[in-house]
Amino acid sequence: MEMTNNKTQVPTLEPARQFYFMDLLREYNEKKSAELGRKLTYHIETFGCQMNAKDSEKLAGILETAGYVPVESEQADFVLYNTCTVRENANTKVYGRIGYLGNLKKKNPEMKIALCGCMMQEPHVIEKIKKSYHFVDIVFGTHNIYMLAELIWRKVSGQKRVFEILDGTDKIVEDLPSEHKYGFKAGVNIMYGCNNFCSYCIVPYVRGRERSRKPEDIIAEVQKLAAEGIVEVMLLGQNVNSYGKTLDNPMSFAELLREVEKVDGIERIRFMTSHPKDLSDELIEVMKNSKKICRHLHLPMQSGSTDVLRRMNRKYTKDDYLALVEKIKTAMPEISLTTDIIVGFPGETEEDFCDTLDVVAKAGFDSAYTFLYSKRTGTPAAIMENQVTDEVAKERFNRLLALVSEQSAKLTERHTGEVAEVLVEERNEQDASLLTGRLSNNLLVHFPGAETLIGKLVKVKLSECKGFYYLGSLAE
Ligand code: SAH
Ligand code: SF4
Ligand code: F3S
Repeated sequence: MEMTNNKTQVPTLEPARQFYFMDLLREYNEKKSAELGRKLTYHIETFGCQMNAKDSEKLAGILETAGYVPVESEQADFVLYNTCTVRENANTKVYGRIGYLGNLKKKNPEMKIALCGCMMQEPHVIEKIKKSYHFVDIVFGTHNIYMLAELIWRKVSGQKRVFEILDGTDKIVEDLPSEHKYGFKAGVNIMYGCNNFCSYCIVPYVRGRERSRKPEDIIAEVQKLAAEGIVEVMLLGQNVNSYGKTLDNPMSFAELLREVEKVDGIERIRFMTSHPKDLSDELIEVMKNSKKICRHLHLPMQSGSTDVLRRMNRKYTKDDYLALVEKIKTAMPEISLTTDIIVGFPGETEEDFCDTLDVVAKAGFDSAYTFLYSKRTGTPAAIMENQVTDEVAKERFNRLLALVSEQSAKLTERHTGEVAEVLVEERNEQDASLLTGRLSNNLLVHFPGAETLIGKLVKVKLSECKGFYYLGSLAE
């Protein structure tokens, strides 16, 4: 890695260029701290999915290298909102909170406000921020999060407002600093972007084209994490099953999993998200034979109607989906399946919706995330005819939720009395005498135990099912 302390020449190559700006900023922050008699603080608020959570860890790594210290609240010198735009309510939430930041800034003249993430890739959002939120200092998108130190440097060097949004990128910048929230589990990006263009979805527009990281970079990161004490990794991508197709030396996701499995110290491997159209027999085989890959698969179905699925551009039918579930459960009967379902897609009829209920009844999901369809400007579905009214969609949503909850309670219960290995994650928030552990199948169990167990794998008896989680006790 190229590093430089020569302050007269700005490096052009990454990541050297960003280390150069982190250096400059650290010196600047040290002077500021001396003047103020306190450290400069930062706070990142993350909206949206695991991708955003992972990006926030990278942003935190940059800020800490540049000399900022983290604080829990938005009363900080540098506040960054990492936004999501997958559904309209994600946007509404962010706008409300930006207003609140404006009030905080009036009380702290040092405060800088920055916005990034998926919402910032939408031109109408940028227009609104330029016009109506003058107190926002820095705005950037999903393609240049690695540039954070450089963008802050521009601001502190006198630029009034810094807007830097790229339309896309084919670049993957490796080897930047990153923080992780937990000492025992961490997410690892294996690919960025999405090429699927499901007709309702904004993600391909705001995250750009699919790019896979090189396997050697992924494995090096996993090895580094293992050396730091991480025992569980979550491999992240919008469609992990199409991993490796764009590499110079193509490699399948199943092959990548085999390599990750070889890393000593890693005990558990999870991944998100699997698109049903690309889930291979090879993957099922690798999962089945693995000692480390968790017994959980998140397999978004979106709809049970073949006609709706076709118009969603999902490229599988109701029967394909059910056959896939069957194949997975035959190979791994103990697996926990979860899914995402959208209700009220344009043109969805009562009959289509009944197909969704039918698949839910047949597939057996341990849990399902259910969403009301949200119109995203610029996607093909936004201009489709026969948009479903709010009343009809809500009524269907409630029926679906009732079925999903009933089924999920029934399926969760099936493990009562078993002894399971869990990764102890934290003290229970409601009852401090309890610890919370996660099973391989992603269920949670609360049990009495000492804090020293956090981050460890222990055996727990699942004594009592409480609907969506268990109460239990240490088994050894
Ligand atoms: N790449 C993942 C999903 C990422 S978005 C996949 O394909 O499975 C997470 C979920 O949000 C999706 O699975 C979908 O159910 C939901 N979603 C996406 N766009 C939506 C929209 N416009 N309205 C409602 N839900 C949406
Ligand atoms: Fe969106 Fe479909 Fe890509 Fe998932 S696979 S991110 S739903 S376009
Ligand atoms: Fe949201 Fe962006 Fe994730 S739109 S769901 S944060 S990829």
